[in-house]
Amino acid sequence: MQGKTILLGVTGGIAVYKAAALASRLTQAGADVHVLMSVNATKFVTPLTFQALTRNRVYMDTFAEDNPSVISHIDLADRADLFLVVPATANVLGKMANGIADDMLLTTWLACTAPTMIAPAMNGHMLEQAVVQHNIATLTARGVQFIDSGVGQLACGYVGRGRLAEPEEIFNAVDHWFRRQTRFKGVKMLITAGGTREAIDPVRYIGNRSSGKMGHSLALVAARLGADVELVTTAEPPIHPRIKVTSVETALQMRDAVLERSEIADVIIMCAAIADYRAATVHEQKRKKEGDSWTIELVKNPDILSELGAAGLSAYLVGFAAETERLHEHALAKLQRKQCHMLIANDVSQADVGFSSDSNQVSVFTRNGLLFESSVTTKMQLAEQLLDLIADEKGMDA
Ligand code: CTP
Repeated sequence: MQGKTILLGVTGGIAVYKAAALASRLTQAGADVHVLMSVNATKFVTPLTFQALTRNRVYMDTFAEDNPSVISHIDLADRADLFLVVPATANVLGKMANGIADDMLLTTWLACTAPTMIAPAMNGHMLEQAVVQHNIATLTARGVQFIDSGVGQLACGYVGRGRLAEPEEIFNAVDHWFRRQTRFKGVKMLITAGGTREAIDPVRYIGNRSSGKMGHSLALVAARLGADVELVTTAEPPIHPRIKVTSVETALQMRDAVLERSEIADVIIMCAAIADYRAATVHEQKRKKEGDSWTIELVKNPDILSELGAAGLSAYLVGFAAETERLHEHALAKLQRKQCHMLIANDVSQADVGFSSDSNQVSVFTRNGLLFESSVTTKMQLAEQLLDLIADEKGMDA
């Protein structure tokens, strides 16, 4: 937390007093906290309280430009490491989900590229309203992280969900988030992605439906978290200064590229859909149409993941499995057969999940059995969850 700049958006609800306790806790932990209040929030606690606790001026008015050398909302937005909204009312969630920027808090948020965390607080019926849930889902899909509200006595007299999470809980979530940012720093990750193409002749190949999106999401998230990524892929790769790309086409080329890099890797994620068989003979010239049928003899490709598993490397080894039936049984058998530490299985028979899709749903197994079942989520969000699990299982410091 030391030296981090946190923008704390405070909106109007009885729980504003808890935001004051949070501002104090974050400041004591070394963060540079800048509070932005909605006008309604000032009806519960005065800006002076936040100013005294954070030793920084409090912002409410977009046009109160006290410092002529900067434009406040842009300057603040550019300096932020994290944007927090505590407490968040149903009103501010609606505005954030729809891009409305009618005060200093919202204008700064729109200009801010730092990640956002939101702790909502409102009456339980308001929280359960379809439109509020829709706004929460929209913001979640855009990468905003929510700190769930607790169950308890609400100021309106109801007992139920909607109460702001306790300041200590919010502090811990923020602290965990910052620690996670350094978890992968310098970790050497080797990731494979895409489907291999096994040539039949100069024109034709045997391929599969893998797009490479899951492996590329893992590579991008890992690189953003500070890892040094070696990406061996058959597809158009993502661009990031910490991703080194090796482009391959066939299983044999992928094997060479992987084995060359496997000894120095800390984590290996075999996300690629590697063809189990290749054509026994690759025709030098395009094969002409002859006869009513064409039989192609296939020979087995080496199983790269099994080779890595048998090599007794120091790396944490993660395999993937695409299954169409009896997912748990097949996944556990595969984990043992290929001697990996973690196996991530998805049921590719489901619509909207797996190949080419932007979303995915997986079950994660380790040698102790089922570890985690995800909901249907974007591949980028899933990549974050999977990397967290890998770091936890490998015992990387958090
Ligand atoms: N894999 C590999 N080398 C291969 C085939 C697959 O390294 N020649 C890796 C994949 O990258 C993936 C895992 O093994 O991480 C699972 O691959 P899959 O094809 O589902 O497993 P198989 O052992 O081929 O089992 P089956 O085809 O019977 O489902």
